[in-house]
Amino acid sequence: MTAGVVLAGGKGVRMRSSLPKLFHKLLGKPILKYVLEHISRLSIDKIILVIPPEEEEKFKEIGKDNVIYVFQEKPLGTGDALRRAMPELEGFDTVLVVNGDAPLITDDIFRRLLDAYKDDVSAVILSTILEDPMHYGRVVKDKDGNVIKIVEAKDANPAEKKIKEVNTGAYCFSVKDLKLAIEKLDNNNAQGEYYITQLVEILNSMGKKVISYQTDLGSLALGINSRLDLALATKRLLEQKLEELMNEGVTVVSPENTYIESDVKIGKDTVIEPFSVLKGNTVIGEGCIIGPSTYLLNANIGDNCEIFYSIVKNSKIESNVRVGPFAHIRDEAHIKSYAAIGDFVEVKKSIIGSHTKALHLSYLGDAEIGEKVNIGAGTITCNYDGKTKHKTTIEDEAFIGSHTCLRAPIKVGKGAITGAGAVVLKDVEPGTTVVGVPAHPIERKPKEEGGKGEQ
Ligand code: UD1
Ligand code: CA
Repeated sequence: MTAGVVLAGGKGVRMRSSLPKLFHKLLGKPILKYVLEHISRLSIDKIILVIPPEEEEKFKEIGKDNVIYVFQEKPLGTGDALRRAMPELEGFDTVLVVNGDAPLITDDIFRRLLDAYKDDVSAVILSTILEDPMHYGRVVKDKDGNVIKIVEAKDANPAEKKIKEVNTGAYCFSVKDLKLAIEKLDNNNAQGEYYITQLVEILNSMGKKVISYQTDLGSLALGINSRLDLALATKRLLEQKLEELMNEGVTVVSPENTYIESDVKIGKDTVIEPFSVLKGNTVIGEGCIIGPSTYLLNANIGDNCEIFYSIVKNSKIESNVRVGPFAHIRDEAHIKSYAAIGDFVEVKKSIIGSHTKALHLSYLGDAEIGEKVNIGAGTITCNYDGKTKHKTTIEDEAFIGSHTCLRAPIKVGKGAITGAGAVVLKDVEPGTTVVGVPAHPIERKPKEEGGKGEQ
């Protein structure tokens, strides 16, 4: 049986942040969440997460149900962190130990690390080659290629400093040998910490064999320690995400000018124009044109929509809808099929019916608007009286004249008309026309060719 231990008890001081390092996000997802997702995809029987007790609540928000939490009171080092997890390893033969700060080591690579573990070895170190090994632990080998120790950069002598094979911070151990070795850890080193890496030397002194499995990930396999590392990892993950989308039939016109977070889903033949930012749980259907310069956050978009130079947040847009330029759709707005929302129109928490058009300069808030309604330029739903928000209802086929103000709560009946500049304070009966300030009913003039009578 194999267990997994994720080390997440450190402080991450190099981020210079009040937010613990592992909660910093890459493409909208915390660093640690990637690591937990990758580990969860392995055939591992138990996942143990070592955390600082004061952050328990926060960790539990991103930890999956299958995770066991273990506290490390003080960040005394990675070796001490693993020591905290030992009681949870009773009955396990093998343990995969990984740093919580390496989101680019995929389940595939962990799988290969586990495959490299054989009966005659006590531990396998996941290593990689770096032209500039910087501050990473150096993997020191004997002439047979076995690993005899890992030297942290701060403790390395000049010859060791030149070694280009570095420790990625992922290891596979025999639990039986680990139990004996971990008792012998000390903190006699440059940082005064208990290093997990000292276990290699200890296992060697016990006559055990340690080997390395080299991945070609290079610097991508290494932990995120600084904001610069965060940016570099984001860049790499973004490239992977865009490539994945392109392979699935999405056109990304300018990959270097497009930001799409990891959980966004896009249907085939959709085109993403430059300078678009697609975030959160956004889902886009097939055959859409998104952008240029469009911001979507948790947006649910149907098929064949065109959304350009616009913002859509936490809202649903059905199929064949046109939005933009410069529209703002937010707070659970729902735009139904074949509707059109044009320039400088803000739609907040409103339902816009099928084939309805609001093409210019409007605010539609807390409104329920039926089908085939025409919202004239400059229409405002006056939904707020200074204390409470009120609802506006506009029934099917109504025609709201330019620059109408609708003081909510209010209802405009089916097929009703408001004249240009009307300030509507009272409900408008179906089929009637109101004009003026305050608006009053007038007799509807016979409809002129192509027009709506008096407006
Ligand atoms: C570690 C390795 C180094 C390797 C590098 C790869 C050690 C001593 N060194 O260095 O050889 O090249 O990773 O990225 O392990 N943590 C705890 N408790 C602690 C300290 C750290 O749980 O007391 C956790 C951190 O939250 C982090 C992980 O362990 O997720 C690694 O810690 P970090 O301080 O980043 O180690 P590095 O100095 O990067
Ligand atoms: Ca690190």
